Amino acid sequence: MNKTVSPAIQVYPDPASASRALAAEIADLIRSREKKALPTVLGLATGGTPLPLYQELRRLHAENDLSFHNVITFNLDEYLGLDHDDAHSYWQFMHQQLFHHVDIQPQNIHIPDGTITPADLAAYGRSYEQAIRDAGGIDLQILGIGTNGHIGFNEPGTPRDSRTGPVDLSEKTRRDNAVHFSGLQLVPTRAITMGCATILDAKRIALLAWGERKAAIIRDALHAPLSPSLPASYLQEHPATTFYLDQPAASKLL
Ligand code: F6R
Repeated sequence: MNKTVSPAIQVYPDPASASRALAAEIADLIRSREKKALPTVLGLATGGTPLPLYQELRRLHAENDLSFHNVITFNLDEYLGLDHDDAHSYWQFMHQQLFHHVDIQPQNIHIPDGTITPADLAAYGRSYEQAIRDAGGIDLQILGIGTNGHIGFNEPGTPRDSRTGPVDLSEKTRRDNAVHFSGLQLVPTRAITMGCATILDAKRIALLAWGERKAAIIRDALHAPLSPSLPASYLQEHPATTFYLDQPAASKLL
Protein backbone atom coordinates (compact mmCIF):
# COMPACT_ATOMS: atom_id res chain seq x y z
CA MET A 1 0.00 0.00 0.00
CA ASN A 2 1.31 3.41 -0.95
CA LYS A 3 -0.01 6.60 0.58
CA THR A 4 1.17 8.78 -2.29
CA VAL A 5 -0.96 7.25 -5.06
CA SER A 6 -4.45 7.33 -3.59
CA PRO A 7 -7.17 8.48 -3.24
CA ALA A 8 -7.80 10.26 -6.51
CA ILE A 9 -10.51 12.93 -6.38
CA GLN A 10 -13.03 13.69 -9.12
CA VAL A 11 -15.41 16.59 -8.60
CA TYR A 12 -18.63 16.92 -10.65
CA PRO A 13 -21.31 19.60 -10.78
CA ASP A 14 -23.96 17.28 -9.34
CA PRO A 15 -24.62 13.68 -8.20
CA ALA A 16 -26.22 12.75 -11.54
CA SER A 17 -23.14 13.61 -13.61
CA ALA A 18 -20.81 11.92 -11.13
CA SER A 19 -22.99 8.82 -11.18
CA ARG A 20 -23.10 8.78 -14.99
CA ALA A 21 -19.29 8.87 -15.10
CA LEU A 22 -18.95 6.03 -12.61
CA ALA A 23 -21.69 3.96 -14.26
CA ALA A 24 -19.87 4.32 -17.61
CA GLU A 25 -16.68 3.01 -15.96
CA ILE A 26 -18.60 0.10 -14.45
CA ALA A 27 -20.10 -0.70 -17.85
CA ASP A 28 -16.61 -0.66 -19.43
CA LEU A 29 -15.31 -2.95 -16.68
CA ILE A 30 -18.17 -5.43 -17.11
CA ARG A 31 -17.81 -5.46 -20.91
CA SER A 32 -14.02 -5.76 -20.96
CA ARG A 33 -14.07 -8.64 -18.47
CA GLU A 34 -16.90 -10.32 -20.36
CA LYS A 35 -14.76 -10.24 -23.53
CA LYS A 36 -12.19 -12.31 -21.61
CA ALA A 37 -14.97 -14.61 -20.32
CA LEU A 38 -14.43 -13.29 -16.79
CA PRO A 39 -17.15 -12.32 -14.31
CA THR A 40 -17.13 -8.86 -12.72
CA VAL A 41 -17.36 -8.81 -8.93
CA LEU A 42 -18.96 -5.64 -7.60
CA GLY A 43 -19.17 -4.59 -3.94
CA LEU A 44 -22.36 -2.58 -3.46
CA ALA A 45 -23.62 0.01 -1.01
CA THR A 46 -27.10 1.09 0.03
CA GLY A 47 -28.40 4.41 1.40
CA GLY A 48 -29.28 7.60 -0.38
CA THR A 49 -25.92 8.17 -2.05
CA PRO A 50 -25.88 5.38 -4.68
CA LEU A 51 -29.47 5.95 -5.84
CA PRO A 52 -28.47 7.95 -8.97
CA LEU A 53 -25.80 5.34 -9.75
CA TYR A 54 -28.34 2.51 -9.68
CA GLN A 55 -30.72 4.60 -11.77
CA GLU A 56 -28.01 5.04 -14.40
CA LEU A 57 -27.06 1.34 -14.34
CA ARG A 58 -30.76 0.47 -14.87
CA ARG A 59 -30.81 2.85 -17.83
CA LEU A 60 -27.64 1.35 -19.33
CA HIS A 61 -29.22 -2.09 -19.05
CA ALA A 62 -32.53 -1.00 -20.61
CA GLU A 63 -31.22 1.30 -23.34
CA ASN A 64 -27.65 0.25 -23.92
CA ASP A 65 -27.66 -3.55 -23.68
CA LEU A 66 -25.48 -3.63 -20.58
CA SER A 67 -25.84 -7.18 -19.28
CA PHE A 68 -25.42 -8.18 -15.64
CA HIS A 69 -25.47 -11.88 -16.50
CA ASN A 70 -21.78 -12.21 -15.60
CA VAL A 71 -21.86 -9.86 -12.61
CA ILE A 72 -21.45 -11.13 -9.06
CA THR A 73 -22.37 -8.77 -6.24
CA PHE A 74 -21.56 -8.53 -2.54
CA ASN A 75 -23.36 -5.93 -0.48
CA LEU A 76 -21.59 -4.18 2.34
CA ASP A 77 -24.11 -4.56 5.10
CA GLU A 78 -27.58 -5.33 6.42
CA TYR A 79 -29.52 -4.45 9.55
CA LEU A 80 -29.67 -7.29 12.05
CA GLY A 81 -33.19 -8.39 12.88
CA LEU A 82 -34.74 -7.45 9.52
CA ASP A 83 -35.68 -10.23 7.13
CA HIS A 84 -35.87 -10.07 3.33
CA ASP A 85 -39.52 -9.02 3.33
CA ASP A 86 -38.98 -6.03 5.58
CA ALA A 87 -39.37 -2.84 3.56
CA HIS A 88 -36.41 -1.33 5.45
CA SER A 89 -34.02 -4.20 4.74
CA TYR A 90 -31.13 -3.62 2.41
CA TRP A 91 -32.21 -6.82 0.63
CA GLN A 92 -35.42 -4.99 -0.39
CA PHE A 93 -33.50 -1.82 -1.21
CA MET A 94 -31.15 -3.59 -3.60
CA HIS A 95 -33.91 -5.54 -5.33
CA GLN A 96 -36.08 -2.44 -5.76
CA GLN A 97 -33.24 -0.19 -6.90
CA LEU A 98 -31.28 -2.56 -9.12
CA PHE A 99 -31.68 -6.32 -9.10
CA HIS A 100 -35.36 -6.50 -10.16
CA HIS A 101 -34.52 -4.35 -13.19
CA VAL A 102 -31.48 -6.14 -14.63
CA ASP A 103 -30.55 -9.64 -15.78
CA ILE A 104 -28.36 -10.56 -12.80
CA GLN A 105 -28.52 -14.24 -11.86
CA PRO A 106 -30.09 -14.58 -8.37
CA GLN A 107 -27.35 -16.96 -7.21
CA ASN A 108 -24.78 -14.24 -7.95
CA ILE A 109 -26.37 -11.82 -5.46
CA HIS A 110 -24.87 -11.77 -1.96
CA ILE A 111 -26.34 -9.58 0.77
CA PRO A 112 -25.50 -10.20 4.43
CA ASP A 113 -28.40 -12.03 6.05
CA GLY A 114 -29.97 -9.97 8.82
CA THR A 115 -31.76 -12.99 10.30
CA ILE A 116 -28.68 -14.96 11.35
CA THR A 117 -28.87 -15.84 15.04
CA PRO A 118 -26.20 -14.41 17.37
CA ALA A 119 -24.58 -17.82 17.88
CA ASP A 120 -24.07 -18.26 14.14
CA LEU A 121 -22.87 -14.77 13.26
CA ALA A 122 -19.12 -15.40 13.54
CA ALA A 123 -19.28 -18.44 11.25
CA TYR A 124 -21.60 -16.59 8.89
CA GLY A 125 -19.11 -13.69 8.66
CA ARG A 126 -16.33 -16.14 7.78
CA SER A 127 -18.49 -17.77 5.11
CA TYR A 128 -19.22 -14.34 3.56
CA GLU A 129 -15.48 -13.64 3.39
CA GLN A 130 -14.92 -17.07 1.84
CA ALA A 131 -17.59 -16.43 -0.78
CA ILE A 132 -15.82 -13.18 -1.77
CA ARG A 133 -12.52 -15.05 -2.10
CA ASP A 134 -14.18 -17.87 -4.07
CA ALA A 135 -15.53 -15.26 -6.52
CA GLY A 136 -11.97 -14.02 -7.08
CA GLY A 137 -12.16 -10.92 -4.85
CA ILE A 138 -14.00 -7.66 -5.39
CA ASP A 139 -13.05 -5.89 -8.62
CA LEU A 140 -14.77 -2.63 -7.70
CA GLN A 141 -16.25 -1.67 -4.34
CA ILE A 142 -18.82 1.15 -4.21
CA LEU A 143 -18.85 3.06 -0.92
CA GLY A 144 -20.83 5.87 0.65
CA ILE A 145 -19.58 7.53 3.82
CA GLY A 146 -21.32 8.21 7.12
CA THR A 147 -21.24 11.72 8.54
CA ASN A 148 -19.15 10.17 11.34
CA GLY A 149 -16.65 8.68 8.88
CA HIS A 150 -17.98 5.11 8.81
CA ILE A 151 -17.54 2.96 5.71
CA GLY A 152 -19.90 0.04 5.47
CA PHE A 153 -21.18 0.04 9.04
CA ASN A 154 -17.66 0.18 10.46
CA GLU A 155 -18.22 2.85 13.06
CA PRO A 156 -15.54 5.06 14.65
CA GLY A 157 -13.30 2.84 16.78
CA THR A 158 -13.22 -0.04 14.30
CA PRO A 159 -9.69 -1.38 13.75
CA ARG A 160 -8.26 -1.56 10.24
CA ASP A 161 -8.06 -5.35 10.32
CA SER A 162 -11.77 -5.93 11.08
CA ARG A 163 -13.58 -8.57 9.03
CA THR A 164 -17.23 -9.28 8.24
CA GLY A 165 -19.31 -9.59 11.39
CA PRO A 166 -21.89 -8.02 13.69
CA VAL A 167 -21.57 -4.42 14.89
CA ASP A 168 -23.43 -1.98 17.12
CA LEU A 169 -24.67 1.08 15.26
CA SER A 170 -23.67 4.43 16.73
CA GLU A 171 -26.27 6.90 17.94
CA LYS A 172 -25.18 9.24 15.13
CA THR A 173 -25.72 6.63 12.43
CA ARG A 174 -29.12 5.65 13.84
CA ARG A 175 -30.17 9.31 13.90
CA ASP A 176 -28.92 9.86 10.33
CA ASN A 177 -30.82 6.79 9.13
CA ALA A 178 -34.01 7.52 11.12
CA VAL A 179 -35.35 9.46 8.11
CA HIS A 180 -35.95 6.09 6.42
CA PHE A 181 -37.90 4.73 9.42
CA SER A 182 -40.98 6.03 11.25
CA GLY A 183 -39.00 7.15 14.27
CA LEU A 184 -35.57 6.67 15.83
CA GLN A 185 -36.80 3.89 18.11
CA LEU A 186 -37.54 1.73 15.03
CA VAL A 187 -33.99 1.98 13.63
CA PRO A 188 -32.19 -1.30 14.39
CA THR A 189 -29.35 -1.05 16.90
CA ARG A 190 -27.17 -3.70 15.28
CA ALA A 191 -26.02 -4.64 11.80
CA ILE A 192 -23.75 -7.06 10.01
CA THR A 193 -21.07 -5.44 7.88
CA MET A 194 -18.07 -6.27 5.76
CA GLY A 195 -15.02 -5.31 7.80
CA CYS A 196 -12.52 -2.56 7.03
CA ALA A 197 -9.97 -5.14 5.88
CA THR A 198 -12.59 -6.77 3.64
CA ILE A 199 -13.29 -3.40 2.00
CA LEU A 200 -9.59 -2.57 1.66
CA ASP A 201 -8.98 -5.91 -0.10
CA ALA A 202 -11.05 -4.66 -3.08
CA LYS A 203 -8.95 -4.11 -6.20
CA ARG A 204 -10.59 -0.73 -6.81
CA ILE A 205 -12.78 1.43 -4.57
CA ALA A 206 -15.14 4.22 -5.59
CA LEU A 207 -16.35 6.36 -2.68
CA LEU A 208 -19.32 8.61 -3.47
CA ALA A 209 -20.41 11.63 -1.46
CA TRP A 210 -22.90 14.39 -2.18
CA GLY A 211 -23.87 17.57 -0.47
CA GLU A 212 -22.61 20.07 2.06
CA ARG A 213 -23.39 17.75 4.98
CA LYS A 214 -20.61 15.40 3.83
CA ALA A 215 -18.02 18.17 3.16
CA ALA A 216 -16.27 18.11 6.56
CA ILE A 217 -16.00 14.33 6.76
CA ILE A 218 -14.70 14.15 3.17
CA ARG A 219 -11.98 16.66 4.06
CA ASP A 220 -11.07 14.64 7.16
CA ALA A 221 -11.17 11.27 5.37
CA LEU A 222 -8.63 12.58 2.87
CA HIS A 223 -6.43 14.71 5.12
CA ALA A 224 -6.76 13.71 8.80
CA PRO A 225 -4.17 11.29 10.18
CA LEU A 226 -5.10 7.63 9.70
CA SER A 227 -7.05 6.60 12.76
CA PRO A 228 -9.64 4.07 13.95
CA SER A 229 -11.67 7.10 15.07
CA LEU A 230 -12.21 7.77 11.34
CA PRO A 231 -12.49 4.45 9.46
CA ALA A 232 -12.69 6.22 6.07
CA SER A 233 -9.14 7.50 6.68
CA TYR A 234 -7.91 3.92 6.05
CA LEU A 235 -8.69 4.57 2.38
CA GLN A 236 -5.62 6.86 2.29
CA GLU A 237 -3.56 3.66 2.18
CA HIS A 238 -5.54 1.92 -0.54
CA PRO A 239 -3.69 1.94 -3.87
CA ALA A 240 -6.69 2.43 -6.17
CA THR A 241 -9.40 4.52 -4.56
CA THR A 242 -11.27 7.37 -6.24
CA PHE A 243 -13.58 9.80 -4.44
CA TYR A 244 -16.50 10.87 -6.68
CA LEU A 245 -17.81 14.13 -5.22
CA ASP A 246 -20.28 16.80 -6.15
CA GLN A 247 -19.15 20.39 -5.67
CA PRO A 248 -20.77 20.90 -2.22
CA ALA A 249 -19.14 17.70 -0.86
CA ALA A 250 -15.78 18.92 -2.18
CA SER A 251 -16.23 22.44 -0.81
CA LYS A 252 -14.03 21.99 2.27
CA LEU A 253 -11.10 20.34 0.49
CA LEU A 254 -7.77 21.98 1.13
C1 F6R B 1 -24.56 1.56 3.15
C2 F6R B 1 -23.37 1.82 3.98
C3 F6R B 1 -23.17 3.13 4.65
C4 F6R B 1 -23.66 4.34 3.85
C5 F6R B 1 -23.47 5.62 4.65
C6 F6R B 1 -23.99 6.83 3.90
O1 F6R B 1 -24.51 0.25 2.61
O2 F6R B 1 -22.58 0.95 4.12
O3 F6R B 1 -21.80 3.29 4.94
O4 F6R B 1 -22.95 4.40 2.64
O5 F6R B 1 -24.12 5.51 5.88
O6 F6R B 1 -25.38 6.75 3.82
P1 F6R B 1 -26.18 7.74 2.86
O7 F6R B 1 -25.78 7.38 1.47
O8 F6R B 1 -27.64 7.42 3.10
O9 F6R B 1 -25.78 9.12 3.23
